[in-house]
Amino acid sequence: MILGVNIDHVATLRNVRGGFEPDPLSAAMIVWKGGAEQLVCHLREDRRHIRDKDLRLLREWGKLPLNMEMAMTDEMSRIALDVCPDLVTLVPERREERTTEGGLLLESQTLGRISIFLEKCREKNIKVSLFLAPEPSDIDKAVSLGVDQVELHTGEYSNAPSDQLAQEELGRLMIAADRLKNTGIRLAAGHGLTVRNLPSVLGLPGLLEVNIGHSIIARSIFVGLGQAIQEIRSVLDENGSYRMVRGEFQE
Ligand code: PXP
Repeated sequence: MILGVNIDHVATLRNVRGGFEPDPLSAAMIVWKGGAEQLVCHLREDRRHIRDKDLRLLREWGKLPLNMEMAMTDEMSRIALDVCPDLVTLVPERREERTTEGGLLLESQTLGRISIFLEKCREKNIKVSLFLAPEPSDIDKAVSLGVDQVELHTGEYSNAPSDQLAQEELGRLMIAADRLKNTGIRLAAGHGLTVRNLPSVLGLPGLLEVNIGHSIIARSIFVGLGQAIQEIRSVLDENGSYRMVRGEFQE
């Protein structure tokens, strides 16, 4: 199971005060030493967290595969094809949202744009992932496009106001994951995942990758980034050496 760590909020904290601290590249080094397999960052139109220079520095550093989240705009397309991350994850983006809400809306115009972008990415050896809600029709569109990966949006599940609604959403995620089986498209999942809600998501058939940001960065304020990653890793490994005792992790 590949763990991608999203370091956007290291940059968010830096940007609150201006200046250089905390530095996303230093965070990337800890993520690498902490045993994660992928770095994730979202270059937003408003550059509220990761900025162009961060993206280029992370790419130049190059110790971990870089998953660049971006909206399907001309500006982002230009940047991605220039920076050449290992993976581009196409996400919906609205200026007024606090974080990525919902999956991509695959209307015909967007499908056309993605299709052109996909071809350009192929030439540069960049893989493309679509961030999708667990809608069977969207999964089918992703299959027709021939993308490399689908990342299922787990936000509805993670933020469900009751166990019953969480279970219902998990059911939708299961059906969507099942639909991707035997298509050759990799399956990833992400958004709102924590040590508590992660185990059920790990049951998605064919899941190969989870991308986690906010809960890791939030936890790292108390225990450090390395430990926060280890806590997630131990959930991924199931029989890891950390156990929850009264809401805290202990060896
Ligand atoms: N995956 C994608 C595609 C996202 O847009 C985000 C949020 O930037 C994440 C994963 C991580 O979500 P969270 O910060 O809630 O863990």
